[in-house]
Amino acid sequence: MPDLERVLVTGGAGFIGVNVVRHLVEHTTARVTVLDTLTYAASPEALAALPADRVELVVGDVADAATVDRLVAGQDAVLHLAAESHNDNALDDPGPFIRTNIVGTYVLLEAVRKADVRFHHVSTDEVYGDLALDDPKRFTEDTPYRPSSPYSAAKAGSDHLVRAWVRSFGVRATISNCSNNYGPWQHVEKFVPRQITEILEGRRPRVYGDGRQVRDWIHVDDHSSALLAILERGRIGETYLVGADGERTNLDVVRTLLRLMGRPEEDYELVADRAGHDQRYAIESGKLRLELGWQPRFSDLEQGLAETVEWYRDHRDWWEAHKAVTETAYAAKGQ
Ligand code: NAD
Ligand code: DAU
Repeated sequence: MPDLERVLVTGGAGFIGVNVVRHLVEHTTARVTVLDTLTYAASPEALAALPADRVELVVGDVADAATVDRLVAGQDAVLHLAAESHNDNALDDPGPFIRTNIVGTYVLLEAVRKADVRFHHVSTDEVYGDLALDDPKRFTEDTPYRPSSPYSAAKAGSDHLVRAWVRSFGVRATISNCSNNYGPWQHVEKFVPRQITEILEGRRPRVYGDGRQVRDWIHVDDHSSALLAILERGRIGETYLVGADGERTNLDVVRTLLRLMGRPEEDYELVADRAGHDQRYAIESGKLRLELGWQPRFSDLEQGLAETVEWYRDHRDWWEAHKAVTETAYAAKGQ
């Protein structure tokens, strides 16, 4: 597509959003407008550190058609990340997940349809359900949808809307389904930052169930570079899986963090399991690599985790504000 001069990033104040916006500032000349309603998961302070002539934050809701229509008109592209993103929260209250993830995506699709603007939808590997621990397969773009949680079902619903708007209305859209991200600015409710900050506060990491579940970890910078590659060179109507060959059990990740932080590897606690806990996610990302020439920069998960530990050591002021609230909620559930 022609040079990106104006890009709207929804959810651009969230974990992946702030990293993607920084990536766009560093690797394109685009002016970025962020549309974000600033939920508990947002970090507008991360955007405030970026050049004001390149990044504008508009506080608003993706399900509000008037705001969305106004902002979408005149953009070269929309990168849609806004979502409720945490599985444990969806088990407590699915309502906001339906509204933001499904209705919000519908409102955006209608806006890009009217304004004929290129759209990229950021989705998750969880739409494919889970794999058995001993299954030799990985997810591909042809794996059938089989979501198993309220969060992944809502994301699957949004993917189906995007596909339907491409086929029925000719909307110029692509979809990416990525595996578990880690890196700077991730909320302490999520696995990696929760365990790092537990260790920094002198407590033991808290692992659900038996800890044998497998996630396929990717550094958020590598997800960001994949999103830009797809936005610039992806084929309209196509889906691209994003992953960096980072499969590890949850226990492996916790033991690595404990070792990196100078604590005994077995110094963790097993706590109540997540309801319906997906066993394993695994991504085959050959299409993205072969077609668009994308490669992850962080090929060594331990190195990426070590850098992330240092980042959380250096950003106590930011995460401490969220930590007490999050841990109170987890304690009430025995987690
Ligand atoms: P996040 O929860 O950290 O951030 C979500 C952002 O969306 C927040 O800034 C929040 O304020 C904003 N938001 C929520 N509801 C909104 C609304 N109604 N209107 C406008 N803004 C709203 O999430 P994240 O981890 O950065 O994930 C971003 C996207 O990437 C999501 O669509 C998620 O499904 C997808 N994804 C995440 C991962 C991961 O590992 N984190 C992996 C694959 C895909
Ligand atoms: O696969 C992509 C998905 O990855 C994204 O779509 C989601 O937005 C993102 O939140 C993430 O989903 P998960 O549910 O896999 O991530 P979470 O960090 O919540 O948990 C990762 C694994 O760690 C999972 O097996 C549950 C487990 N866990 C989690 C927490 C918070 C624990 O064992 N202990 C914990 O304290």
